Amino acid sequence: MSNMGSEDDEKRLVGSKAADYVQSGMRIGIGTGSTAYWFIQALAQRVSQEGITIEGVATSKATVRLCRNLGIPMESIDRLDHLDLDVDGADEVNPQGQLIKGGGGALVRERLVARAADRFLVIVDHSKLVEDLGQFPLPIEVVPFAWKTTASRIADLGVEPELRKPQGKAFVTDNGNYILDVKWGPITDPEAVYRTLKLTAGVVDAGIFYEFSPTVLVANGRKVEERR
Ligand code: 5RP
Repeated sequence: MSNMGSEDDEKRLVGSKAADYVQSGMRIGIGTGSTAYWFIQALAQRVSQEGITIEGVATSKATVRLCRNLGIPMESIDRLDHLDLDVDGADEVNPQGQLIKGGGGALVRERLVARAADRFLVIVDHSKLVEDLGQFPLPIEVVPFAWKTTASRIADLGVEPELRKPQGKAFVTDNGNYILDVKWGPITDPEAVYRTLKLTAGVVDAGIFYEFSPTVLVANGRKVEERR
């Protein structure tokens, strides 16, 4: 426990804590990323050890695989479009509970799943809390066959979109699209920026989640605090 308090430890702490919000019989949205990973581990433990009955809808193919391997029953969003709870991470959270998401490239499914849920529980370590969104590069999912022209339309807004290219190869989302990452700087009106991007031809979705009023669980050192 000597490193307790590092971001990784906080992710583990808050992810595990989130499993307490799940009740037997619930339909659960299950997020993507390294914080959601710990939620999934704790949830799987409750399924196998306590025998709680749940159905999950995943926000990515990676999450489907992980959940199935751990014995969590999974359904597709099209078959289960009303969820009791969605638990997911975030890249940034402002004081209004607005988010940047999509660091893992799952923003399209993450929004679909969050919108289907009665309650949205966002799980973060304290480094994700910001005054204004926009320090973290904003992920924008775009159609691959016109990514350059889409990038230049976005650049007309005065920013510099960069194609996500881990190991030199374009990152392809679960939906077969590309991601442009944009260092935006302070986003003081997240809804306006989101709407502008959504109206840009070639944009599939942008990682500004302005429209939710999530419960935010924040780990800070050894403590987990619930906000809102
Ligand atoms: C994936 C996401 C993740 O929720 C976000 O990137 C946070 O990830 P992590 O918990 O690994 O820090 O939006 O698309």
